[in-house]
Amino acid sequence: MHHFALKNGVLHAEDVDLSVLADTIGTPFYCYSTATLTRHYEVFKAAFGALDTLVCYAVKANSNQAVLATLARLGAGMDVVSEGELRRARAAGVPGNRITFSGVGKTAQEIAYALDEDILCFNVESEPELAMLSEIASAKGRTARIALRVNPDVDALTHAKIATGKAENKFGIPIERARAVYREAAKLQGILVSGVDMHIGSQITDLAPFDTAFTILASFLDELRADGHPIDHVDLGGGLGIPYRQGEDPDSYHPDRYAAVVKARLGHLPYRFIFEPGRLIVGNAGILMTSVILVKAGEAKTFVVVDAAMNDLIRPTLYEAHHEVVAVTEAPADRPSATVDVVGPVCETGDYLAQGRIMPLPQAGERLAVMSAGAYGAVQAGTYNTRLLVPEVLVNGADYSVVRPRPSYDDLIGLDKLPAWLR
Ligand code: LLP
Repeated sequence: MHHFALKNGVLHAEDVDLSVLADTIGTPFYCYSTATLTRHYEVFKAAFGALDTLVCYAVKANSNQAVLATLARLGAGMDVVSEGELRRARAAGVPGNRITFSGVGKTAQEIAYALDEDILCFNVESEPELAMLSEIASAKGRTARIALRVNPDVDALTHAKIATGKAENKFGIPIERARAVYREAAKLQGILVSGVDMHIGSQITDLAPFDTAFTILASFLDELRADGHPIDHVDLGGGLGIPYRQGEDPDSYHPDRYAAVVKARLGHLPYRFIFEPGRLIVGNAGILMTSVILVKAGEAKTFVVVDAAMNDLIRPTLYEAHHEVVAVTEAPADRPSATVDVVGPVCETGDYLAQGRIMPLPQAGERLAVMSAGAYGAVQAGTYNTRLLVPEVLVNGADYSVVRPRPSYDDLIGLDKLPAWLR
């Protein structure tokens, strides 16, 4: 469910006409919907009913300050994976006691900063990290609340590049070792064991892997309880998938179904449940707006060359991800359809946004919207080919705001500094 829909033949974001917006702002740009962000957060939160939950939005999915501030006002916590993300969450008004810190390679500086911010929990991914955390916390006279991220060796049935819960992945501590590591952790200075953490992957649309992982986790929690650890929360990570294809029925992995699995496996436990959804909150709350530069009839294929490219949205080429591409203004009924690749101007064969799509053949100057691009879109954008970092716009009803302006070429080139001998 999202708030991008055709009204009188023109795609709108809530009540904002995207064709007019594109004229005003210029393309490419990302456009996000406040109503969709809000709805997704609330649907997810409500799915757990009376269970004690904290939804810690995974900042990595979309870290624009306006997105974070929207979610912070709804009461969301945040999961961060770097000092930068922690600073962003704090700047958006999220208190430290609603922030978890995940990631396999937290540096000493990042740990020290997070201790100063008195965050809710460090999700510790290895024994060396635990030792480092203990040392830094005790030197500062502080106590770090920790959860160990356990790796249950479960196949999340998702793209290999975004599966994290298998033994061969770099993430977490193998669950067979974890009990011993908890015992060690309990003895360490500056460490307070407060939870257990797990995250098995992303874009998971089959709930069976969650069911398996949560079952494993439930029996592991029995062991931790038997060992007398003062566990007060269980962090189940993120990873619940979203529909990317038009007509796809997301019912089998609706948050209500996911919550039912959580309750069935873990609901009897007297803990607070933390979740770290990213994509689910923001994925379908954003689109990438682009304009057709030209249509190139190749030997074997027709290419619709647009002004957005792989540097703006890398998901299609990096993960073979499918994003629907729709005309912002409905094509006239007599427009012939064609099978096209929608490609950017970047000098790489991998620079495509969509391949083999049947659509009324777009014409130069027309606008297209790349759908479901709110998660892992703008945050993974770069400036390859010295293309300007893509701007971002947030819509709220009939109102909109440019929440990250397009930089100038001087801004971009000025980031480089000439050494004295070349001046
Ligand atoms: N928690 C942790 C520790 C994570 O590593 C992630 C995502 C999440 C939460 C949020 O997962 P989500 O609910 O968004 O699935 N760039 C890739 C996705 C990478 C996901 C990385 N970790 C993509 O565009 O598909």
